[in-house]
Amino acid sequence: MPIQLLKVSDQSSDFHQKVIERAQKIDSGEYNAPSSFKDRSLGMIFFEPSSRTNWSFHKAAQDMGLKIMSTYIDSSTSLSKGETEKDSLELFLNLNFDVVVMRSKANAELAQTITSQKDNLNFINAGFGSLAHPTQAILDAYTWMSHTENSSKILILGDLKHSRVVRSHLRLAHLLGYEVGLCPLENLGLEAPELEELRPSEVFKSREEALSWADVVMPLRAQKERFTSTSKETYIAQPLRRSELLDKHWLMHPGPIVWGEDMDYELAQYSKSLISHQQRSGVTCRAALISIIMEEM
Ligand code: CP
Repeated sequence: MPIQLLKVSDQSSDFHQKVIERAQKIDSGEYNAPSSFKDRSLGMIFFEPSSRTNWSFHKAAQDMGLKIMSTYIDSSTSLSKGETEKDSLELFLNLNFDVVVMRSKANAELAQTITSQKDNLNFINAGFGSLAHPTQAILDAYTWMSHTENSSKILILGDLKHSRVVRSHLRLAHLLGYEVGLCPLENLGLEAPELEELRPSEVFKSREEALSWADVVMPLRAQKERFTSTSKETYIAQPLRRSELLDKHWLMHPGPIVWGEDMDYELAQYSKSLISHQQRSGVTCRAALISIIMEEM
């Protein structure tokens, strides 16, 4: 049975728990990929820039022994000659990889249409516009579960309107049983219908109140590449400061970080930062997911 992960909610809570348990086994050396994985292939197609997602999927697939092809759709491809994104993606899917990993600027409908037409396709979303970034939410959850004791109140701050990370966390929180509080910058929050659908535990106006509620604090980058002219005009950076954090706070950031906008550079040395652990968990959790997909084939 193929596995498709466009949104966290495409898979069950048991499935996500299994990914986390597999990641623990990989980290503790209790899981080694079977030799049969060396005959399997993984194709990565990225229509938008990426460092950590792209590199960690690549490393994860290598660690699991798969053959990898990775491509960025840029001026070196036939898109520059007028080919559509849809045709480029169809061509890529016709190369017959065992699993495809895709990042898209915003074209979730295209991916949904194509994946729904391909019953046998194993497919992982590596970040679609503002819609979803399921593996980022899984690796974040794995990170705080592994490195903190009983942290279950996650505060996400900043530009939430354009964030696929916040939407994936709100979905995963209901499946794995953690709490997500939101503290958006002015004009950069989620609208009422989405709040009703995604049901955050708390929505704060006051950052002080929000911080006193939270165990884990995750400021986000303002995703200016997705701003409309209206929202761009109203963005005022409010970097998280060291002096705002209390002894209990763990610090996370999915990256990329814009120092001075998302948070002050002095937080680069914060002793309870989990950011480098998040980067390492990116490889482990993606390797866990790939190994589970390969076993289901
Ligand atoms: N967190 C994340 O998606 O980062 P990249 O854009 O560098 O992949």
